[in-house]
Amino acid sequence: MIRSVVKGIGAAKPARVVKNADLEGIVETSDEWIVQRTGIRQRYIAGEGETTASLGEAAARAALDNAGLTPDDIDLIILATSTPDNTFPASAVDIQARLGMTHGFAFDMQAVCSGFVYAVTTADLYIRGGMAKRVLVIGAETFSRILDWNDRTTCVLFGDGAGALILEASEGRGLTSDRGVLTANLRSDGSHKEKLYVDGGPSSTQTVGHLRMEGREVFKHAVGMITDVIEASFSEAGITAEDIDWFVPHQANKRIIDASAKKLHLAEEKVVITVDQHGNTSAASVPLALATAVADGRIKQGDLVLLEAMGGGFTWGAVLLRW
Ligand code: UT7
Repeated sequence: MIRSVVKGIGAAKPARVVKNADLEGIVETSDEWIVQRTGIRQRYIAGEGETTASLGEAAARAALDNAGLTPDDIDLIILATSTPDNTFPASAVDIQARLGMTHGFAFDMQAVCSGFVYAVTTADLYIRGGMAKRVLVIGAETFSRILDWNDRTTCVLFGDGAGALILEASEGRGLTSDRGVLTANLRSDGSHKEKLYVDGGPSSTQTVGHLRMEGREVFKHAVGMITDVIEASFSEAGITAEDIDWFVPHQANKRIIDASAKKLHLAEEKVVITVDQHGNTSAASVPLALATAVADGRIKQGDLVLLEAMGGGFTWGAVLLRW
């Protein structure tokens, strides 16, 4: 059977680092509160000239270099983002043009913090369906541009960045020992849409709007939703937590990650945590964490890797893949 196998990975961050202490002059907060409640120590904030498309392009180029490929080798670009440069066209086509790619096709995918997990799942379906041989999957965000910088309950949590993964069609045997995407499970429940949303948009207010979140409510649902969808992946693949080499969760809050790992009996040393370095970068957080763990030598070819995300909508999902 056809499997979607990882060929390369890359990441890009804005030039400017903003430490927790730097936020103490903007809203009434403290480094101590942010670290204790979230595990975040710093985030990157896009400056002039840095946008979702420019960060996505940089991450894409890094992934192409890592794979030893050029834009000519790519058939499809899927960009997971909730902060596109424009309402339309999709920032994916902007990245396509920036890469000098005049063939193939590109589109954006909107599932907020679960965007990258949704995009990897979609890429896998295009590959297994035979419509694409190599897909560039990007998660890129500039959440700093939709934050209410007077709202301390949200502005300290998010940051900007991008990560990219290249998936390629490869022959597998239909076993969990195959390399590539093994299972994907996606969920959404729109009845929670007011717990995490942006209060503007083209068809409602004709403005971009600002992020609004009932943090405690999101927290309350997060661990149960994450563990449910992961347990579904385990039973589909016929594996247990012990088989997992690396758990690479959405990087929103270290307390949510720790609680989910504990409930799933995933050993602490298998959990990749980068939220301290870049805060919650929504659709970029999973590929940023992945890129970090590949670059520092933790994730190696043949490792069983579990990706997970949960966010606005609510949307949530899990992807199990062998690197
Ligand atoms: O990526 C999408 C998914 N999103 C998430 O996963 C976010 C989920 N939620 C969370 O991570 C947490 O709920 C937060 C980090 C947002 C908040 O942590 P919490 O432990 O749930 O705190 P809380 O909302 O219950 O607030 C506790 C106190 C409040 O004061 P009172 O009412 O107890 O007097 C807040 O006003 O902390 C106060 N507070 C702050 N204090 C200092 C809220 N924000 C801040 C702040 N600095 N930035």
